[in-house]
Amino acid sequence: MRSDWWRRAVVYQVYIRSFADGDGDGIGDIAGIRARLPYLRELGVDAIWITPWYPSPMADGGYDVADYCAIDPRFGTLADAEALVREAHELGLRVLIDLVPNHTSDQHPWFRAALADGPESPARARYHFLDGRGPNGDEPPNNWPSVFGGPGWIRVREPDGSPGQWFLHVFAPEQPDLNWDNPEVRAEFEAILAFWLDRGVDGFRIDVAHAMVKEDGLPDLTPEQFEGVPLSREDHPHWDRPGVHEIHRSWRRVADRYDGGRVLIGEVGVEDPARLAQYLRPDELHAAFNFPFMATPWSAVALRGIINDTLDAHREVGATPTWVLSNHDATRHVTRLGRPYTGFRRRELDDVLATDLALGTRRARAAILLMLALPGCAYLYQGEELGLPEVEDLPVGLLEDPIWRRSGHTIRGRDGCRVPMPWGGDVPPFDFGPPGSTPWLPQPAAWRALTAEAEAADPGSMLSLYRAALRLRREHPAFRTEAFRWLPSPEGTLVFERGGGLRCAVNLSNRTIVPAPGRAPLVSSIGPDGDELPPDAAGWFETVA
Ligand code: GLC
Repeated sequence: MRSDWWRRAVVYQVYIRSFADGDGDGIGDIAGIRARLPYLRELGVDAIWITPWYPSPMADGGYDVADYCAIDPRFGTLADAEALVREAHELGLRVLIDLVPNHTSDQHPWFRAALADGPESPARARYHFLDGRGPNGDEPPNNWPSVFGGPGWIRVREPDGSPGQWFLHVFAPEQPDLNWDNPEVRAEFEAILAFWLDRGVDGFRIDVAHAMVKEDGLPDLTPEQFEGVPLSREDHPHWDRPGVHEIHRSWRRVADRYDGGRVLIGEVGVEDPARLAQYLRPDELHAAFNFPFMATPWSAVALRGIINDTLDAHREVGATPTWVLSNHDATRHVTRLGRPYTGFRRRELDDVLATDLALGTRRARAAILLMLALPGCAYLYQGEELGLPEVEDLPVGLLEDPIWRRSGHTIRGRDGCRVPMPWGGDVPPFDFGPPGSTPWLPQPAAWRALTAEAEAADPGSMLSLYRAALRLRREHPAFRTEAFRWLPSPEGTLVFERGGGLRCAVNLSNRTIVPAPGRAPLVSSIGPDGDELPPDAAGWFETVA
């Protein structure tokens, strides 16, 4: 297998709890993934990224890790994980796993020791423990909030029972932030990388890769920072600090010790493509998710702008651009694209918005043809190939996302994009698990029409569209180069050409267009024979005989 596979790969995100349940406990697991590897192979992806599978109390869906070198028994065993990697490789699929370095679980042995050993202990020095402010130390050490709502600090009781120090948690209280100034923390994570690379994994998706480093003295946020006004890199005391790059360089050195193209893919939450590209210098991460693209509304002007910015910024550092429409933290894009506001906003999930799912589905079909035609790497989120919508009416008693709790039950959170996959059959659990099992979140009855089984049999389905586009992407010479140029096109449309005479046209206007007169598309979102593209449609046309 090629060692620069990641430059053009299509990576499929497996949200393990919701992918496939092999043992019938209602929770997806490694056995389930292994059973579905042939499906992924047939879909035509190059790699899978598996969300955290480590022992975890699941306070944040596994992003609270209690042991980085083991598998949660709900998901299987280390031997199962090794077998999965082996079987995936046999099918030509790479395997990426999720590394969560900013914080551990509060059940991690390090944090338990930090609580037990008390102030000034070496165990506390692995986290951010500080005395509180105010006369009795009963106010948090600074004003940093938690991303999930409420303050970012919790006061502990000391071993003698007295009210004690505070610890920092930028995410949930069950996710204490590690202190990356501590050499022991750095050494531990290098060892964790090696542990998994030794077991054959092809790389890591790195959780909040712009976090980790905090400004000396943990100064208060300014009012602007508190409001989340876009910030320059130097400004913010805990996001995108200059020092974070040295951590990525050290991990790159570890990955480069291994052959076969082991990669580091960052979840880097910075908005400016030029700043994002800093993480992609040749000695840092191989790639990062393009969240600015994901957040862009369905508008030709906006999409053209972000595509240009992305290509320019990545070219400057020789990095591969990436494209993504959905993940386990975002409203599913079939739903998003059917709303009045089509961009992504982290906090919109509880908005009562009119959603036109038929429109969203049409646009999602066009959007995937746009995304898969762009040069670089594409990331798919499980279920988007079936056109699954966000589930917006989950009973509140079942919501598990810490955002729901931390927002005082005002924001439903991200569970609606995490509902277990429908694989086949007419009634829940739709083969997610064995008959009679109960998935951890209920699947809508209407998903009977959206199962992989139903869609595989329908040439007009979303699944058939994904398979056709992915096959062309693998086989057509246009995709073997980075060549890309815009062609003149009517207002509200995007038309570009890749090398080898492949033209991608996306119609975001309200008039029909004819992007390649006299030529039927190789693949199109509407499946026509003719050369016309109606509004909210896209197609790939061959323009050279
Ligand atoms: C990332 C993950 C998200 C998690 C957070 C904290 O953003 O994608 O699911 O809640 O990090 O680990």
